[in-house]
Amino acid sequence: MFNVDINAVKTYLLGLQQTICDALQELDGGAQFIADEWQREAGGGGISRVLAGGGVIEKGGVNFSHVMGDSMPASATAHRPELAGRSFQAMGVSLVIHPRNPYVPTSHANVRFFVAEKPGEDPVWWFGGGYDLTPYYGNQEDCRHWHAAAKAACDPFGEALYPRLKNWCDEYFYIPHRQEARGVGGLFFDDLNDPDFDTAFAIMQSVGNSYLKAYGPIIERRKDTEYGERQRDFQLHRRGRYVEFNLVYDRGTLFGLQTGGRTESILMSLPSEVRWSYDYQVAEDSEEAILGKNYLPAKNWLEYPMVTDTQIDQYRVFGNPIHQSKSPNIHRVFAQATKQQINYQAQLVAEDEFEHTVKEFFADGGKGLNITVPFKQRAFAMAQVLSPAAEKAEAANTLYFNDQGQLVADNTDGMGLVRDISHNLSGELKAKRILVLGAGGAVRGVLQPILAQLPAQVIIANRTYSKACDLAALFRGLGTIEAVPMDQLQGPFDWVINGTSASLEGDLPPLPEGLFTNSSRCYDMMYSAQTTVFNAWALKQGVAHADDGLGMLVEQAAQSFNLWRGMLPLTADVLSSLRSELKASDRKLKL
Ligand code: ATR
Repeated sequence: MFNVDINAVKTYLLGLQQTICDALQELDGGAQFIADEWQREAGGGGISRVLAGGGVIEKGGVNFSHVMGDSMPASATAHRPELAGRSFQAMGVSLVIHPRNPYVPTSHANVRFFVAEKPGEDPVWWFGGGYDLTPYYGNQEDCRHWHAAAKAACDPFGEALYPRLKNWCDEYFYIPHRQEARGVGGLFFDDLNDPDFDTAFAIMQSVGNSYLKAYGPIIERRKDTEYGERQRDFQLHRRGRYVEFNLVYDRGTLFGLQTGGRTESILMSLPSEVRWSYDYQVAEDSEEAILGKNYLPAKNWLEYPMVTDTQIDQYRVFGNPIHQSKSPNIHRVFAQATKQQINYQAQLVAEDEFEHTVKEFFADGGKGLNITVPFKQRAFAMAQVLSPAAEKAEAANTLYFNDQGQLVADNTDGMGLVRDISHNLSGELKAKRILVLGAGGAVRGVLQPILAQLPAQVIIANRTYSKACDLAALFRGLGTIEAVPMDQLQGPFDWVINGTSASLEGDLPPLPEGLFTNSSRCYDMMYSAQTTVFNAWALKQGVAHADDGLGMLVEQAAQSFNLWRGMLPLTADVLSSLRSELKASDRKLKL
């Protein structure tokens, strides 16, 4: 006996539309959904509900439709001959939400039911549906949460369901002409008619009911994130991709338009504002580039950690943030990744416990860690595999295990410096004349990435001249680099990067005048609450900008996190919160 309860499906769908509209309205906090009821000449109709111009939701549409006919359109029976000569009913709820804030992803959901009947025969029926998320600025926590909600909706029906619907979603929401995914996926299913009506209906309901659990918290978390013109512009361009998918590939849109569906309801999914620019590109290594690099390639999001305070141990940084070289106690810094950001806390660890603590950390399931002064050489010595950067620096600022179970030493200090300069400070090293002060571990760690930026010339100057000569000789093969005694330096330089530890003691290297013009910039690799001694001196000499190394600290941690997890976290927020923390302290620090 076949138990196909069409009315129960319809009642559920109408209720779902109402529940979703009510909840989204509340999340928006001001705007209301209008309801537009329509009839279809050939049979049936629907209720389109649209919210436009909300504070949170720029445009959202939640559509219910129930259409029917005495016979199936020829296009629908061509590949399903068993449907010929049957009457049919198709019903569903379909929605797309385009938020205003670029940090809130767009989301789409759809649940639908189809049944074709013929007197004296069993009905042919199936369910379809799913939901997917399209972020503009990727966020690990959101992706993880979205997929965890999707999995929870599938789990009551067996372990195999989530991976099946997740992969189906990845395959479906793909834009071939861009060779990229539309978003970070979710669930997708179609033609579901087993094992029986009740179970298939229950799966559809479970998916429909979980949509708000998946999306609501993401809206809440991101809706007040500050953004500017740059983020808006990126959002509008990315919306262009969304439109391309919907108009060129989406089966629902195409089927609807080709079979005389209600155009306004079908195109309700399009955003109200969108932008295309010829050959639109985002800058390499920009926040925008991270979406395409780390988020759009399909991955199992549930393998990525949902980092909470209790998992803080997963992301340790060992070392001495407070540079107490005279103290027997060495500080340990924790880098905690939350909301795809990295935060720091300091704690004490005794100097002779370094190796032991590292081993313990990995034995406890730690994924990767950062190391700072004075443990970088000891970390280097512990590793089984050395990255080229670590090898050149003869020091490691990060340790992690690779896929073969080997302990790898890498060095991301230099990448952190270069990224801070190019990304946070809008600086350029290419074709510039650069003076690097110091010839200790810190300088050794950054020369290779600086030279990789193809500067016109790098000059190293150090209190002990012979050490500068040694370093210049070591890196000569990588670019134009030479050592010059401090008192013979000939300015001006485009950049002066201070890698000495002089500022920590409140000292200034013995530098001649005339190193700067008013377009020169300088960078002190240490950071402190007040302007560093070196930067204060440079500003007095008339440099255009003088920046400290806090951004380098954050960026090297982000680069390390990327090595451990294959994800480059966003850093802007953590940098500004660390800056305020630092201002409130009297600390002086160097990596
Ligand atoms: P780090 O890891 O911070 O680089 P390091 O390896 O001890 O620490 O190197 C410190 C660097 O700062 C050295 O280049 C040192 O100069 P020397 O090679 O002559 O020792 C430089 N430095 C430290 N204090 C300084 C000061 N007061 N004036 C000038 N340079 C100084």
